[in-house]
Amino acid sequence: MRSVIKGIGSYLPEHVLTNEELSKKVETSDAWIRERTGIGQRHVAAEGEFTSDLGIAAAKAALLDAGMDAQDIDLIVVATTTPDYTFPSTATIIQEGLGIHHGAAFDIQAVCSGFIYGMTVVDSLLKTGTAKNALLIGAETFSRILDWEDRTTCVLFGDGAGAMVMSASEDEAETAGVMNTFVRSDGAHCKLLYVDGGPSRTQTVGHVRMVGNQVFKYAVKDISAAMTACAEGAGVSIDDVNWFVPHQANQRILNGVAKRLKLRPEQVISTVEFHANTSAASVPLAMDTAVKDGRIKRGDLVMLEAFGGGFTWGAALFRY
Ligand code: UT7
Repeated sequence: MRSVIKGIGSYLPEHVLTNEELSKKVETSDAWIRERTGIGQRHVAAEGEFTSDLGIAAAKAALLDAGMDAQDIDLIVVATTTPDYTFPSTATIIQEGLGIHHGAAFDIQAVCSGFIYGMTVVDSLLKTGTAKNALLIGAETFSRILDWEDRTTCVLFGDGAGAMVMSASEDEAETAGVMNTFVRSDGAHCKLLYVDGGPSRTQTVGHVRMVGNQVFKYAVKDISAAMTACAEGAGVSIDDVNWFVPHQANQRILNGVAKRLKLRPEQVISTVEFHANTSAASVPLAMDTAVKDGRIKRGDLVMLEAFGGGFTWGAALFRY
């Protein structure tokens, strides 16, 4: 049994917030943000537009791409740190929004690594026969948990959603599908990147807090190790991988990992300039961009990777 990616889609809110506009609100500049991060702009959800709305739009695009109907779906997994409510899960709200009343839907929380964790979970559930056709969604409205007076964090993030339709395939001739996933976490570093609120501790939503330069060092080291381990576990050399689709936190992290693993820059998909860091949505948003512009093609070997709060990190390898 293999988990095959049948379709991909994404959604970005209409409103674009440029670095120039941000520099009128906090003491920063387009030059600083571009030089330190590669970010040029981010999308921000409109008032009354929620994580579930972004997720539904991305899911519909992925279903269209897969040529499938919402009623074919019997599993929805949503990776998000910015759910509509504390409960019910955003996945059940999306399920209802898609008119699906069967199967199972739940959220997972691994912050920016959520899509990699989600792919690990979905791959397992498809392989064990628990579900046949899954929607894996990364959806975030990070703008709602930013301290818009803190220039060290508010310039870094954006809103968006990406989705994949993944199906179980018993076809022995099938060469596409997930080959390996690798996930790790270490709670020792939770205070380097966290949100200072939550239902149990503060009864508030809280804001993102980060010691960015510390996170940076761990990110490059741990992502590189995860990618190497993920490839080795699949019996594949990193040199054989056609495309790398990283979490889009900082262009310098992408460059650092590429340098360590000797990847060619043109193999590394980067959307950080246009999307900024959309947490769990960033990997499928970047992948969808490269599929739609014709770079990633059916049959290509693709590796996803991410690093986020927790710390959590990981990589996933599949033939598209
Ligand atoms: O998605 C989850 C994973 N997240 C990440 O991977 C993020 C990892 N970290 C980063 O991307 C980078 O560390 C940042 C982009 C957050 C910061 O870049 P940096 O090169 O590590 O800068 P820094 O934190 O060491 O700060 C350098 C200076 C400081 O000033 P002093 O203390 O040297 O006077 C900051 O106060 O830059 C200052 N600074 C800013 N200046 C203008 C911090 N933010 C800003 C800003 N505009 N927005």
